[in-house]
Amino acid sequence: MAIRPILILPDARLRLISDPVAGVDRETRTLMEDMLETMYDAPGIGLAAIQVGVAKRVIVVDTSKKDEEKKPLGLINPEIVWSGGEPSVYEEGCLSIPDYYEEVERPGQVRVRYLDGEGRTQEIEADGILATCLQHEIDHLNGVLFIDHISKLKRDRVVKKFQKMAKREQQEG
Ligand code: NI
Repeated sequence: MAIRPILILPDARLRLISDPVAGVDRETRTLMEDMLETMYDAPGIGLAAIQVGVAKRVIVVDTSKKDEEKKPLGLINPEIVWSGGEPSVYEEGCLSIPDYYEEVERPGQVRVRYLDGEGRTQEIEADGILATCLQHEIDHLNGVLFIDHISKLKRDRVVKKFQKMAKREQQEG
């Protein structure tokens, strides 16, 4: 397992639409293991493959609390097959947009179909923070960031801030 570098806004790759995984193989499983290690190290509760520069439809999540047993989940080609319930609002963040948090409203419940590490079709029903997390990560596979769900004013402000930081880093070499 290895920790991989995480892409940061405004990296253009974060806007790519990721490709479906054609066959679940050793490479896919290694990718998922690396993504989990990277996510735990950050630390975060979800990560999409494109955030480590791989444009494949793979996400990992773990919304267990600090004092709980870890519940790592790797989803390949995840697809929301149903969403509904009471809308829920969470303050979201993203490992690709460090130290920035905003409230986002999303459907409170989802059912997601995906392939597991063995290539078997699975379905998961989620609510609460896990439902939000799954939607956030699946958004990444379509080049969508959580800041796309907030006001344009706030989004423009945070994008500009990260553009400036990237420029400064470049100049400092
Ligand atoms: Ni994110």
